Amino acid sequence: MKLLVTGGCGFIGTNFIRLMLAKHPDWSITNLDKLTYAGNRLNLLDLEENENRYDFVQGDICDRDLIMDLLDGNKVDAVINFAAESHVDRSINDPSPFVVTNVQGAQNLLECARQRKIDRFVHISTDEVYGTLGDEGKFEETTPLAPNSPYSASKAGADMMARAYFETYGFPVLVTRCSNNYGPYQFPEKLIPLMYMNALADKPLPVYGDGLNVRDWIYVDDHCLGVELTLLKGREGQAYNFGGDAEETNINVVKTLLSVVGKPESLITYVKDRPGHDKRYAMDFTLAADELGFAPTVNFEEGLKKTIEWYKTNATWLEQVQSGEYRNFMDTWYEERS
Ligand code: NAD
Ligand code: TYD
Repeated sequence: MKLLVTGGCGFIGTNFIRLMLAKHPDWSITNLDKLTYAGNRLNLLDLEENENRYDFVQGDICDRDLIMDLLDGNKVDAVINFAAESHVDRSINDPSPFVVTNVQGAQNLLECARQRKIDRFVHISTDEVYGTLGDEGKFEETTPLAPNSPYSASKAGADMMARAYFETYGFPVLVTRCSNNYGPYQFPEKLIPLMYMNALADKPLPVYGDGLNVRDWIYVDDHCLGVELTLLKGREGQAYNFGGDAEETNINVVKTLLSVVGKPESLITYVKDRPGHDKRYAMDFTLAADELGFAPTVNFEEGLKKTIEWYKTNATWLEQVQSGEYRNFMDTWYEERS
C-alpha cells in the first residue's frame, strides 16, 4: 500500500510512520509536512537516508497544486491526515492558524483526494471535539460535538467537513477521535514532556487551576495501532473513538512523573487556569473494540516510564526543539499566568 501521510514530522505522525514501515514491508510512505515549530525533519532523518520506502516533501496541506501533484497518477492508495496546529494554549493566543490548517487545510486535502479518487482517507481528530464531561459518563461516537477551545472548534470543523464529504459525495473518509497521547517525540509544550523538561532543570512545574482536571492517557503506539485498524478495517463514513482506559487528574500525572524522575513535589506551582479549560475527558471505545478489535496494550505507569526513558536517552532532541520561537511563546505564556 502507498500512503500519503501529512504532519509526519510531528509527534504522532513520526511514531506512526516508524511503526507502519517496520510492520508492513510492502508499504511505502510519502510524508508531507510544512515543518512548523512543531515539526522536526530530523525525527525521521534515518529513514530519509536509508529507507527507499520513505520520502519526505516539505509543503502545506493548504497548497492545492502540490497535493494534486502528489496524488496524481495512482501514486497513492490512502491519505492519513495528521497535519494540524495541535496546542490548545496557542489556539487561545491566536486562533487564526488553527482555522487555516485544521479546517481549510483538511478541506483542501479532502477535495484533492476526492478529485483524484483516492480509495481511503483517514482523518485524525480528537476527543476534544466532544467538549467536556462532568464526574460521570464517557464520550461515545454519538455524543454531540460541543468544542470549547479554538483548537477543538477547528478540529470539529474538519470532522463536520469529513462527514459532509461522505454524505454528499460518498467519499470514503473515516475519522479517528483519540484521547491524550504521550510517548517519544512529543513536543515539550504538552503536559508530560513540559513537566519532564522543567523537573530536569529544577524549574517550577506550572499546574493550571486546582490540578483536578482529568484526561484519559493513551501511549502513542496504541493510538497508531488504532489508526492502522481504522485504515484497514473501518467502515467508510464512520468516526471511531480511541482511548487508553487511563483516566488521571493532572496533579496525579505530575506527581507520578516527579517520582519517576526522582524530583521533589515542592517544584509544583499552581498557576492561573486555562480559559475554557475542559474539566474531564473519558472515552468509550466499545465501537473500535467490537468492529476493529482495538484494545490499548500499555498501561499508564509502564508507558510513562518508557516515555521518560526515551527523553533521557534523547536529551539532544529535547535541546534541539526547545529553541527560538517555541521558547519565546512559552516564556510569555507563563509570565502572564503566574
Ligand atoms: P504535532 O503538533 O506534534 O504535529 C503536527 C505536525 O503537523 C507538525 O509536524 C507540523 O509541522 C505539521 N503541520 C502543521 N501545519 C501543517 C500544514 N499546514 N501542512 C502540513 N503540515 C503541517 O501534533 P500531534 O500531537 O502529532 O497531533 C497529530 C494529530 O493528532 C493532530 O491532528 C491532532 O489534532 C491529533 N490528536 C493529537 C492528540 C495528542 O494528544 N497529541 C490527541 C488526539 C488527536
Ligand atoms: P495538554 O498537554 O496541553 O493537552 P490538552 O489540553 O489537549 O488536554 O494539557 C493536558 C492537561 O494538562 C490539560 O488539562 C491542561 C494541563 N496543563 C497544565 O496544568 N500545565 C501545563 O503547563 C500544560 C501544558 C497543561
